[in-house]
Amino acid sequence: MSPQMIGRRDGMRNTAHSLPKSRVTIGVAIGVGILFGCIFAFLFPHGLFLPTASNTHHLSRSDNAQVGSASCESSERVNMLKSEFVAASEKNAELKKQIRELTEKVRLAEQRKDQAQKQVLVLGKQQKAGGFGTVKGLRTNPTVVPDGSVNTRLAEILEKVAVERELIVALANSNVKDMLEVWFTNIKRVGIPNYLVVALDEEISRFCKSKDVPVYKRDPDEGIDSVARTGGNHAVSGLKFRILREFLQLGYSVLLSDVDIVYLQNPFPYLYRDSDVESMTDGHDNGTAYGYNDVFDESAMGWARYAHTMRMWVYNSGFFYIRPTIPSIELLDRVASRLSREPNSWDQAVFNEELFFPSHPGYDGLHAARRTMDFYLFMNSKVLFKTVRRDAKLSKLKPVIVHVNYHPDKLPRMKAIVEFYVRGKQDALEPFPNGSNW
Ligand SMILES: *[C@@H]1O[C@H](CO)[C@@H](O)[C@H](O)[C@H]1NC(C)=O
Ligand SMILES: *[C@@H]1O[C@H](CO)[C@@H](O)[C@H](O)[C@H]1NC(C)=O
Repeated sequence: MSPQMIGRRDGMRNTAHSLPKSRVTIGVAIGVGILFGCIFAFLFPHGLFLPTASNTHHLSRSDNAQVGSASCESSERVNMLKSEFVAASEKNAELKKQIRELTEKVRLAEQRKDQAQKQVLVLGKQQKAGGFGTVKGLRTNPTVVPDGSVNTRLAEILEKVAVERELIVALANSNVKDMLEVWFTNIKRVGIPNYLVVALDEEISRFCKSKDVPVYKRDPDEGIDSVARTGGNHAVSGLKFRILREFLQLGYSVLLSDVDIVYLQNPFPYLYRDSDVESMTDGHDNGTAYGYNDVFDESAMGWARYAHTMRMWVYNSGFFYIRPTIPSIELLDRVASRLSREPNSWDQAVFNEELFFPSHPGYDGLHAARRTMDFYLFMNSKVLFKTVRRDAKLSKLKPVIVHVNYHPDKLPRMKAIVEFYVRGKQDALEPFPNGSNW
């Protein structure tokens, strides 16, 4: 941190401290003023600058004394009415203020009651905080009670395929058939038993069966829930999230996987399982993968030119582990419904916005626990092609998976990755440029 930044934080604190002091000074001044006012009012009830006694005498002996007294009476009455009116308006303002305050209190009480109820539901009983450094917030939410009635056919398949109620799931249609073959060939080679292809068409379903790959073909009308019905054609982009929901409702944890991924080890021993969502990142170093403080500089602000911002490269919505919890299911629902409402949105952006944006006025954020996977073990193709393949040490380490997410020539790069890591062909990655050539 630069000295300017430290200076700024301290400066802010000083300003904050000086505020009450000036308030006190103003308060004292007002108090003294009122006190003097009272004393003068008591000593000189008719005011300080009264005419002399002889002048008063002279005036009161005027010829039209009667008229004078009548007008005096009515002006007194007016004054009385005026002061009554002032008193009534003051009372009115006071009541209005009380109503405002009470309404606010009711609102806060309801909010607290609601939050307290939710917390009791999740946490059970209240407890005292432990000593300094010993307290830890909840990040591992309880799993839902499995509901087999959601989809009995899928429940039967999962019964057979899943291991410890976990499995890899990929969605595929005939467009990605070649990549799917590389995908499951490597999964088989590594010896991962718990994986399933959700076939989106008949051809993929047949293809998987012919290769002895566990497959689940959805009935055409399955999952046509309210989201799909209101979402029209655009709801299709949210299909993945709606399909996933059933797996979670059935009580399974899913490692969702795109098919442009090469499996080099079994991923399950590398999971932490402490969060609702555990995801691979699009980041390429410690900062971009795990988060950093990005200082925004606006020199025109002078002393306060540095604004600190929180940044992180997005989670990759093509490879994440999701536990069957309420926040996880809420996430899927939120993403699916936004994708159907906002036809031009990108599912990965929506997925990240829902995961990361906090609650704010008019918006209740999702409260899901998140964990970023190790970007060298769960490697994206930018890390491989820009950094790892050029680094003598890093290129010796075997990742768990490599996701060809950064490059459009997916199939040849997948095959080269297999050559490099599986068959040990040292120059297999060399023909490929760092990025794509458009
Ligand atoms: C990245 O983080 C790891 C683990 O915290 C650390 O060992 C490594 O030195 C860091 N790398 C850089 C370049 O800071
Ligand atoms: C590819 O990336 C590496 C590492 O960042 C760099 O040294 C190299 O010059 C890049 N190659 C090209 C052709 O841009």
